[in-house]
Amino acid sequence: MSASPLRTERTILLPLSANDLDEVGALYGDDEVMAYVDGGVRTREQTKSTLAAAERCWKAEGWGLWAIRDAETGGLIGEAGLQHLFDVDGAPVEFGFTLSKRHWGKGLATEAGHVILMDAWERFDGDLIHAITDPENTASGRVLLKLGFHQVETRLIHGESQLLWEIQRIR
Ligand SMILES: CC(C)(COP(=O)(O)OP(=O)(O)OC[C@H]1O[C@@H](n2cnc3c(N)ncnc32)[C@H](O)[C@@H]1OP(=O)(O)O)[C@@H](O)C(=O)NCCC(=O)NCCS
Repeated sequence: MSASPLRTERTILLPLSANDLDEVGALYGDDEVMAYVDGGVRTREQTKSTLAAAERCWKAEGWGLWAIRDAETGGLIGEAGLQHLFDVDGAPVEFGFTLSKRHWGKGLATEAGHVILMDAWERFDGDLIHAITDPENTASGRVLLKLGFHQVETRLIHGESQLLWEIQRIR
């Protein structure tokens, strides 16, 4: 299963796929963008694997990562959405977001994140979605708070002290 595009005032959102390789490759290759992202910068081959995993997730689960594109130009702003976390106890599904530098500080992660999260509750049948941030990554913490996440605890994840966040389905 895939998904129809979603829209916000300034963005159009499409399921992330192998077609996004060149632009996502540039995004994941930027060391400033990836400073707080698990694993840091990715090679083109690693990005290819991430995009293949994203396609598999959309197919198997009916939810996944979205490419966030400029509604006017179609250019890639970043990616955000749900993905599996295979090795974090009690947190099987993570919400995350990665935007290219020139788009930071304009409210775009919050704008796209709201719509992605609202849509995710329709697609995902669990009651909890988690997020993980580096305690120094103020911007991503602010976005999560604005989306309604709350901090659960500080935990050692992949050898780093990280903040674990969650949001619960409202019934
Ligand atoms: C985290 C990230 C997605 C935020 O995106 P963004 O579109 O710039 O965020 P927004 O413009 O919606 O801003 C959200 C809040 O963060 C604050 N913020 C943005 N950049 C900030 C910075 N460098 N330092 C402190 N606060 C910052 C904004 O002021 C805003 O808070 P406010 O409304 O209280 O003023 C973006 O910085 C990014 O892609 N970073 C690199 C990848 C990354 O770290 N992803 C998260 C991994 S967990």
